Amino acid sequence: MGSLFQILLALFISVIGALYLLGSFRRRRPGEPPLDKGPIPWLGHVLEFRKDTAKFLQRMKEKHGDIFSVQLGGFYFTFITDPLSFGSVVKEARTKLDFTKFAELLVARVFGYHSLENEHKFLQASSTKHLMGDGLVVMTQAMMCNLQNLMLHSVGSGNDKPWQETGLFAYSYNIVFRAGYLALFGNESHKSTGTLEKAKEIDREHSNELFWEFRKYDQLFPNLAYGVLGPSEKMESERLKRVFWSTLSVQKMRSRDNISGWVNEQQQVRADQGMQEFMQDRYMFLLLWASQGNTGPAAFWLLLYLMKHPEAMDSIKNEVERVLRETGQEVKPGGPLIDLTRDMLLKTPILDSAVEETLRLTAAPVLTRAVMQDMTINMANGQEYKIREGDRVAIFPYTAVQVDPEVYPDPFTFKYDRFLTPDGSKKTDFYKGGKKLKYYNMPWGAGTTMCPGRFFATNELKQFVFLMLSYFDLELKNPNEEIPGIDIRRWGFGSMQPTKDIQFRYRLRF
Ligand code: HEM
Repeated sequence: MGSLFQILLALFISVIGALYLLGSFRRRRPGEPPLDKGPIPWLGHVLEFRKDTAKFLQRMKEKHGDIFSVQLGGFYFTFITDPLSFGSVVKEARTKLDFTKFAELLVARVFGYHSLENEHKFLQASSTKHLMGDGLVVMTQAMMCNLQNLMLHSVGSGNDKPWQETGLFAYSYNIVFRAGYLALFGNESHKSTGTLEKAKEIDREHSNELFWEFRKYDQLFPNLAYGVLGPSEKMESERLKRVFWSTLSVQKMRSRDNISGWVNEQQQVRADQGMQEFMQDRYMFLLLWASQGNTGPAAFWLLLYLMKHPEAMDSIKNEVERVLRETGQEVKPGGPLIDLTRDMLLKTPILDSAVEETLRLTAAPVLTRAVMQDMTINMANGQEYKIREGDRVAIFPYTAVQVDPEVYPDPFTFKYDRFLTPDGSKKTDFYKGGKKLKYYNMPWGAGTTMCPGRFFATNELKQFVFLMLSYFDLELKNPNEEIPGIDIRRWGFGSMQPTKDIQFRYRLRF
């Protein structure tokens, strides 16, 4: 009896606790946006949201319009779905709308990392220095050397150039992850291996092992972020975290060559601030995650869209050949490897447009801010809404703008030149309700949390495609196979992944 009573008491306490945490006792105030609490009041819409975020938010947008609040887990989330009004969120001062609280909680739960006081300032300063401008020249060079080490290995040469058949997603993600990882976290030192060739071989093997461990973590990630892993998955995620902490540890990094300024400096800042080394190791995993989880999947979609759209493929091949010609380079048997520089990558407007179009269709982050004080959201149509301290404000640009047919006619079709003007320059004029949009494509987020790696990531995508088209003939195993669907469990986390892989063949051209 005693134990039954205890169970009932525990149940009662946890239900009351859950109700409290889930916020079902709160009241809305006049002027607040419409609230949608879901079929079971205390559960809100959390299950529906998690199952298919895009579908759910699209349904809410159709039901409530430009602004609505949804009870999700412990919080009221107010979603803004009018892109003309995004500025009132992304440009708001941090004293009113802050992202750090939210990000710190997630990072502690998912990566076991406890943040520094000035965390974000350090990240921004070092990203500006090393992932943009002059820093990008160095990173482009490092990326190119590593891409060529991985791409041109075991592909034959001379008369022996067999077709290699594999999954396009597995291939693209693998190559881009490994080259990006080596470019940022450095190479095996040839001083320890004796020769450069041996060091390159170790780079290939080691980065491949790391990729497959990364993929395991990647697949657990959506449930991990929502805090709903089963017991065995939890054990696996703990094991994987330890693998990454050890592989990327400050101690092991000391013996590597060519570590990027980005990684080096951020480690140094933490050491200078007195952060313990085990916590610095955890931060290294966080950097790996932020830098390698999105670009590989995006590279897959880009190459797939090109392979499924011959007109796009031809235009970009012509552009690539033109840029090579202009720099006096030619891919030929026994010839030197391509020297692809940052400058060359600034002369590819058609590829730029195809990258932007790919991200429009396949990058779908949720941008979230914590409301730090009672405040008013001013909508573009002049209406004002009161938002309470402790709530959350969120934007899901994918349904709000990226696939809005009014902004992008035929929104689910890949049009490689959608972001080109008739004179061939970058198109930035997109309209809704007759008004020009400032925020028309947001794969990188916006405002202070906008992805600091966006220029490097764009370069990585362009380098990968540039080299693939220059070195290889490519074809889909079944050219009529449909483009796979999007794995809906990952809405909100950045680059989307396909529901299944698609087989392709590639073979050296020279
Ligand atoms: C296609 C590839 C990529 C996509 C779509 C992407 C997208 C994003 C998005 C949506 C955010 C969050 C923005 C927000 O909350 O407002 C973000 C944050 C971040 N990204 Fe990227 N990213 C990509 C590649 C990269 C790369 C290559 C790096 C580094 C080399 C990187 C480093 C980061 C970091 C450090 C953050 C956290 C920023 C902060 O806390 O303020 N990302 N990224």
